[in-house]
Amino acid sequence: MVALDGPSGTGKTTVARKLAQRLSAGYLDTGAMYRVVTLAVLRAGTDPADAGAVTEVARGAEFTIGTDPGRPSVALGGEDVSAEIRGADITHAVSPVSAVPQVRELLVARQRRIIDEVLAEVGGIVVEGRDIGTVVAPDAPLKVYLTASPEIRAARRSAQDTAAGRESSHADARASVDRRDRLDSSRAASPLRAAEDAVHLDTSELEIDQVLVALCELAGHRGLLDCAAEATR
Ligand code: DC
Repeated sequence: MVALDGPSGTGKTTVARKLAQRLSAGYLDTGAMYRVVTLAVLRAGTDPADAGAVTEVARGAEFTIGTDPGRPSVALGGEDVSAEIRGADITHAVSPVSAVPQVRELLVARQRRIIDEVLAEVGGIVVEGRDIGTVVAPDAPLKVYLTASPEIRAARRSAQDTAAGRESSHADARASVDRRDRLDSSRAASPLRAAEDAVHLDTSELEIDQVLVALCELAGHRGLLDCAAEATR
């Protein structure tokens, strides 16, 4: 198992999916789980800041999350919401929702179950999030903490939004990155931080393929599934 943590805009999602494909492993996007619960909260007309009501919605939300790195999908009540959970309103409301300890408890338990199932069925999994190495899977044999400068992360986020047809300016993306960094790092329950034994990788000056090569090497060194030879081909 590989735990990939770090703030948004570090290339985490792209890298995690590609790494999982190279390793023929499963893939779990835990951020998507917080996002789908946030969508359920907004659809219920619940105030994201009302922890009690948010917990109720989280308990009742019927969602599924796919673990195929080639086709990640999220459904709420049977409806595919993979695109909808990336919208600006969800991105704005997800930080208060993910700060609710009961929501985290619920989702962490589910994440551990999914990880166990995929490990039993497929043999390996790459899990990305904010607290994978610290809380969800502290025994993961490889933990990586991805970073990049806020300026670069905002530029990547803005490019991603534009590519997905969402309106985005660099200034808005920078404000959103700064706001989420502040909220995710300062919350009381499982704040974003690197595990003590995580390998830090700054992706500011790296292309995705270079990050992938570095991760494959690390996986090889740890005696995990080895994709280094394939990645450098
Ligand atoms: O990775 P992302 O941007 O899709 O994550 C959405 C939000 O969910 C992010 O602001 C922080 C939260 N999150 C979390 O608290 N813990 C995780 N393991 C993953 C995401």
